Amino acid sequence: MRRLKAGIVGCGGIANAKHLPAMAKSGLYEITAFCDVIEERAKEAKDRFGSEDARVFLDYRELVQEDLDVVYVTTPNRSHADISIAAMEAGKDVMCEKPMARTYEEAQRMLEAAGRTKRVLNIAYQNRYRRDAAYLKELCRSGEMGEIYFAKAHALRRRAVPTWGVFLNEEEQGGGPLIDIGTHALDLTLWMMDNYEVASVTGAAFHKLSCQTDQGNAFGDWDPELFKVEDSAFGFIRMKNGAVIELEASWALNTLEVDEAKTSICGTKAGADMKDGLRINRIHHNVPTVEKPELFGGAVDFFSGDEKSAADVEQELFYRIVADGAKQTVEPEQAAVVTRILEAVYRSAESGETVYFD
Ligand SMILES: NC(=O)c1ccc[n+]([C@@H]2O[C@H](COP(=O)([O-])OP(=O)(O)OC[C@H]3O[C@@H](n4cnc5c(N)ncnc54)[C@H](O)[C@@H]3O)[C@@H](O)[C@H]2O)c1
Repeated sequence: MRRLKAGIVGCGGIANAKHLPAMAKSGLYEITAFCDVIEERAKEAKDRFGSEDARVFLDYRELVQEDLDVVYVTTPNRSHADISIAAMEAGKDVMCEKPMARTYEEAQRMLEAAGRTKRVLNIAYQNRYRRDAAYLKELCRSGEMGEIYFAKAHALRRRAVPTWGVFLNEEEQGGGPLIDIGTHALDLTLWMMDNYEVASVTGAAFHKLSCQTDQGNAFGDWDPELFKVEDSAFGFIRMKNGAVIELEASWALNTLEVDEAKTSICGTKAGADMKDGLRINRIHHNVPTVEKPELFGGAVDFFSGDEKSAADVEQELFYRIVADGAKQTVEPEQAAVVTRILEAVYRSAESGETVYFD
């Protein structure tokens, strides 16, 4: 089996925590090019994960000209579009971190480039590969949930503001918790509903806790001077078929309902949430029932089987998409709709008006 030659741009948190270890574990990739504007980071990643002849770059425009099959884009959101487009134009297939882009205009440029160059553009919404999400998707796909007409996308943290990197920087990221973690929850929700036809979006964004100094933050104190993005944001999304979605995202909120990368859906035949493992609720033989599928662990207590993490599945699937033409689970057009909705929440929050889609 041929290994794919891979290059990676942005050797920070997610590259080292998710992509590089899973790529190495899979044995499907030979990672030969590492780029970061901070050279030390690229060198460290190369030493840990690179092939013997791997090279280090400071400029992504040089990396994309290398003899590579795939380029991973794991930089802050601001450069997702430019780097992905440059890689596709250089003939490489792309794995780009979420969110696809800061704005719908950037996402559209990425889609145009993918179509023009006929390259794969895969957005790294790895939560779709979780076992609970994949199982629920099967229930939705098979019609067992009925028509889903109400859903909630949950991305609520009580105090877990990311204090590393550029997460608090509006220009670099395009926003705060909404674009950072709201994006996962909304992606899961739209995917379960299989509904990407948006009619309107109403949103509100808050900067209420970012100025506080008594923080209790999971990732250490943030600098109130640097915290320019919202600390929480909420959206109400109306779909063209009448279905509605409530979207809630925060890094800091006075709530005990902490839920991240989760969806709750209500269909005409059944409902589901992920609040205590995956729970399916329905009426069965005239009785309200709750089913909790056993998604983890084997039947024998000393052997739990070879369970794959979402990160492992992501790398294996990307390999099959690129090498064998397998179907993408995350279609870039779907990721672009997520970005369009998030941008509309911000626009609505700013103007106080509902944003209508054509
Ligand atoms: N899928 C997930 O669950 C998940 C989780 C965390 C982060 N992310 C995404 O990953 C991306 C990066 O986040 P992170 O936490 O790794 O941030 P990070 O700051 O830890 O790492 C980003 C790296 O990119 C480098 N960089 C910035 N601009 C560059 C450029 N133009 N060329 C080359 N290198 C450049 C930085 O020096 C840094 O080392 C973001 O888009 C974020 O939304 C996704």
